Amino acid sequence: MQTDLRGRDLIGDLDFSKEEVESVLEVAFDLKRKRALGEPHALLRDRVLAMLFFFSSTRTRGSFEAGMAQLGGHAAFIESKTTQIAHGDTPKEIGEIFGRYFDGIAIRHVDWGVGNGYLNAVARASRVPVLNMQCEVYHPFQILADLMTIIEKKGRDLRRKKMVVSWAYAASYQKPMSVPQSLVLQMPRFGMDVVLAHPPEFRLMPDVMEQAREQARRFGTGFEVADDMSAAFKGADIVYAKSWGAMVHTPDAEEGARIIKKYSSWITDEKKMALAKPDAIYMHPLPADRNIEVTDAVMDGPRSVVYDEAENRMHAQKAVMALTMR
Ligand code: CP
Repeated sequence: MQTDLRGRDLIGDLDFSKEEVESVLEVAFDLKRKRALGEPHALLRDRVLAMLFFFSSTRTRGSFEAGMAQLGGHAAFIESKTTQIAHGDTPKEIGEIFGRYFDGIAIRHVDWGVGNGYLNAVARASRVPVLNMQCEVYHPFQILADLMTIIEKKGRDLRRKKMVVSWAYAASYQKPMSVPQSLVLQMPRFGMDVVLAHPPEFRLMPDVMEQAREQARRFGTGFEVADDMSAAFKGADIVYAKSWGAMVHTPDAEEGARIIKKYSSWITDEKKMALAKPDAIYMHPLPADRNIEVTDAVMDGPRSVVYDEAENRMHAQKAVMALTMR
């Protein structure tokens, strides 16, 4: 077990080694058990986390805030628009100043080409850990929660389990591609054979794809790219289907929105789920465009594990905070 994570940032999924992620998972399962039994676990008494949001959130805010309180500390909710960032506070100043007030700085900033650079700039200036609550490249805490959920449903030996990470149609807005990118980076390390399915215009970032292929080579797992949602679902153990934008294909948001409209058949419905294994699970990080991206029958059906994923956000985040912010 790798136990010395004190002071470490978690910005990209590969910032923690596989052994360090395994340690996080062990602590997360222990904290989940303690909460179920009502055992106090005030590991971060008197510690304070800054949660700086440049973008809206339901689960991330709620789970970090509840998690810090359960650990005996406090989480300060800070929206960028109510700060002086628009009037000149730089990421260096945020890192320097918040690093002196707080014991950790968590940030959500998903603006294309901006968010990840912002987090790294804050981290360079900060004396305390910087935690990525989602940028345009990575969503590492979502994927830790997903990994916990997969282990709970499929066991610890995940070798040769087929995981489909699929694009899905959604009309609401061009969603970040950080969830599929983090999935293809982290899941091969835990033995799953990943099939990434998307229409041609919804490619992921080339350097992330190269890193994902490298992880698959290193851990001896399969990694394929497909352009047919139904074909990809065949024989899957885990179906993870969500929408993301065409930002790699075009920086033009209007063109991206036009392209999305071509692929309304990429919905997760019972017919497609029937192509997966009978005991396949359906995953989604939420929020979803119901009956556009996924039908109610799948989302609310017996194979859906979306609420367990949402719950496990809190346990996984508590584990990382307890290990890095002590
Ligand atoms: N899955 C997730 O990050 O949810 P929120 O956007 O509501 O935080």
